[in-house]
Amino acid sequence: MGRLIVVSNRVNPPADSGVGTAGGLAMALAAALREDKGLWFGWSGQTVETYTGQMSMQKVGGVTVALLDLEEQDQSEYYNGYANRTLWPLFHYRTDLVAYERSFDEGYTRVNTRFAETLLPLIGPDDLIWVQDYHLIPLARELRKRGVTNRIGFFLHIPWPARSILSTLPRHGELVEALFSYDQIGFQTEDDCENFVDYAVHDVQAVVSDGGLVEAYGKKVRAKAFPIGIDAEDFAETLKSDTAEAFRKLMVKSQAGRKMVLGVDRLDYSKGLEERFAAYETLLADNPDLHEHLFMLQIATRSRDDVDAYQDLRARLDTISGQINGAYATVDWVPLRYVNRPYRRDELAGIYRAAHIGLVTPLRDGMNLVAKEFVAAQDPANPGVLVLSQFAGAAEHMKEALIVNPLSREDMSEAIKKGLAMPLKERKARWEALYDNVRTHDVGRWRDQFVACLKAA
Ligand code: G6P
Repeated sequence: MGRLIVVSNRVNPPADSGVGTAGGLAMALAAALREDKGLWFGWSGQTVETYTGQMSMQKVGGVTVALLDLEEQDQSEYYNGYANRTLWPLFHYRTDLVAYERSFDEGYTRVNTRFAETLLPLIGPDDLIWVQDYHLIPLARELRKRGVTNRIGFFLHIPWPARSILSTLPRHGELVEALFSYDQIGFQTEDDCENFVDYAVHDVQAVVSDGGLVEAYGKKVRAKAFPIGIDAEDFAETLKSDTAEAFRKLMVKSQAGRKMVLGVDRLDYSKGLEERFAAYETLLADNPDLHEHLFMLQIATRSRDDVDAYQDLRARLDTISGQINGAYATVDWVPLRYVNRPYRRDELAGIYRAAHIGLVTPLRDGMNLVAKEFVAAQDPANPGVLVLSQFAGAAEHMKEALIVNPLSREDMSEAIKKGLAMPLKERKARWEALYDNVRTHDVGRWRDQFVACLKAA
């Protein structure tokens, strides 16, 4: 029997997963690989002056991790360029932020070729290859060109946009065609999958048959939604740790009887942080009786610092947070605690548990695992309330949250107010339904279902 080979741009070795501060993808993959003891291949995060194809290999907790160094031009054209200045904003519906540069395109193809060439000698005859996310869409095409006949699957962690948005990308047809070199492709939600099929049917006259088989470009691929989850069991353990408990206590003490409204995100324009701050300001402006009885803690960990849109957002958030505190703070109350440093997962678990409201209000998000971790961290006897954007993939299954439109500051402000006043009985009923879903639809199920479909494809 062959191994499972997972390929992703960002690699977070499993040994670090308990303390990692990485995004949802790396956390989930560490969990997904733990049982399979397979191979995890990706970028080391390091650059060298001249590319050599040099790769380092180590065994971490039964998983073999193989890391490739890229060169500086790769980092700027492929990672900061095509991945994070073209595809990321486009797939999150921010066409205003998209940069189209031929050099980005070239860098993207070059790095995918480099990944294929370096991975090639590591592939055994029966291995299953599972490629992750928007950085590596053309990888299967490059592997096929080099004679690889293994089953290859692809999972997209971010939204797949509507046809009208995708068609603004120069050479969008090539990008879509690259997906047809896979045997199975997976999306976070039914909506994403429908968007893909809609493009294929209307733009390239694909024929779709039962079971999600899509035929176009003279090739066939299976497409299906596989909503990702958290590692619920492992998270429950983390929550019991001394660090988590210490952080819960620290937060309860520093709350001084005030209710805590919590947001935890990467500092990214897709997360709706400006809109969230605006909603909080509306809440304060409209409800003087709430002043000094609550505060908001927003942890926004710096991310993709080399990209202008992220620097600009950071500057704006610095200003807005300062304005809110300037306008409303008293000598003894800071209404908004705005924090950029990263926290470890066990620390976050304790912070989540101490929160009264969890605000997860992205403008677009593939899934959002913070929503699921927030739910998993709550005290069953006295759970907090999740306020969730209708535009997070998680909203497709987390209907018992207070679902909001993040573009409406009034809707969000009202939802926070409603959550703060929600009776215990209703909080428990909503939480129980949410937790049931988080526990049963966990990352293990996501992996098993995808791998089973890939084997059957
Ligand atoms: C999102 C993406 C991941 C990415 C993560 C962190 O979750 O889907 O592919 O790893 O953000 O972003 P970064 O650029 O730091 O890897």
